[in-house]
Amino acid sequence: MSERRSLRGARILLCVTGSIAAYKAVSLLRALTRDGAEVSVVMTPSATRFVTPLTFETLSGRPVRHGLFDGAETMPHLRATDEADLVLVAPATANCLAKCALGVADDLVSTLLLAARCPIVMTPAMDGDMWEHPALVSHVRAMRERGVVVLEPEDGPLASGLIGKGRFPAEPTVMEAVAACLDRRRDWAGQRVLVSAGPTREPIDAVRFVTNASSGKMGYAVADAAARRGADVVLVSGPTALAPPTGVTTVDVLTADEMAREMEARFAWATVLVMTAAVGDFRPRRPSSVKIKKHDWDGAPLALERTPDILASLSRKRTHQILVGFAAESDNLLDNGRKKLRQKDLDFIVINRVTGADSALGGDTSDAIFLPRHGQAMPVERLPKRLLADRLLDTVRDQCLTHPSAPALESNREIRRIH
Ligand code: C5P
Repeated sequence: MSERRSLRGARILLCVTGSIAAYKAVSLLRALTRDGAEVSVVMTPSATRFVTPLTFETLSGRPVRHGLFDGAETMPHLRATDEADLVLVAPATANCLAKCALGVADDLVSTLLLAARCPIVMTPAMDGDMWEHPALVSHVRAMRERGVVVLEPEDGPLASGLIGKGRFPAEPTVMEAVAACLDRRRDWAGQRVLVSAGPTREPIDAVRFVTNASSGKMGYAVADAAARRGADVVLVSGPTALAPPTGVTTVDVLTADEMAREMEARFAWATVLVMTAAVGDFRPRRPSSVKIKKHDWDGAPLALERTPDILASLSRKRTHQILVGFAAESDNLLDNGRKKLRQKDLDFIVINRVTGADSALGGDTSDAIFLPRHGQAMPVERLPKRLLADRLLDTVRDQCLTHPSAPALESNREIRRIH
């Protein structure tokens, strides 16, 4: 296992929910505090049936809350999450995962999960059949897409007596995930990130257009991840069905020309450019400003011409910016990606496969090859695009940024609510 930073000074809100694995949260609390974390514990009412609050109170040295309405304090969920660097749900029951996925807030733990703006790590523990139930599978996918870290439970003997996947993950795995999540907090602060996303749309006439299958999901995920990690982010987006990420300035465009104009206007401001957009390479040479009548169609408006290569043109104007491009390829992925990186003079390229049923274009998940200008190609396994975005930011930070180190936790007390 790789060297990880100590958790000294990290403020962790440990939420214990009602699984038999609640007893493992006791040992986890000990491990977290031994590593220097300041841990406060909240419990669901059913968790208190497995382990008493007194156990956690004694070991954390802090009062343990388990009711929305006990204590004198109003809105304890807001204060608790504002004061935390990370929320760790351990164990996370199927019920807790479902409530968090749906935004249900009917006890203290689910309410503070809805209020939390800091990273959330969930460590599921349940029977194998529950973990594999389609309802839970879709809840877990939804949360992962939102950036919640949901660890995989482990295979082995379960409390039910059966053998299967559902065991509370091993303690070092949980500690590693917590440390990695804390490392990412605001590690992009100070960076100004210009992201392009989605397809472009080139008119044929007043109602028809040429476009492509890009959904914009990857670019929106990159913009969201960078903003949550402290960067100032501008997202220039072609037409998509996606809601603009919170905390990001989003500029809507339609054509490649409009995208080029908006990107050029902001390029000098940016420190990092992430060009995920599937910019249309061709457009109708002579679009009609009115709707072409069926019987008037002679094919002429579909004579195509090349659009400007936005990335290549920005690259020629670069002063200080780090340039990250994407390559959508159907064959010879690495060779073609390498060629593009050189031709467009990029610092980093993400190579995506766009053929087959699991093509990167339009889907919720993607695998990729990361190729830095100086360094080895790195194959990345299939991940939800939001997790792939975090992986990309980790790698660009480590390979390309001059001051990549994450700020020390002790000097990083500011909690920013991004709305
Ligand atoms: O040359 P190719 O289109 O494969 O290069 C892909 C990269 O170039 C992507 O990052 C894409 O956003 C960008 N691009 C661009 N302008 C175009 C076409 C692609 O900026 N007209």
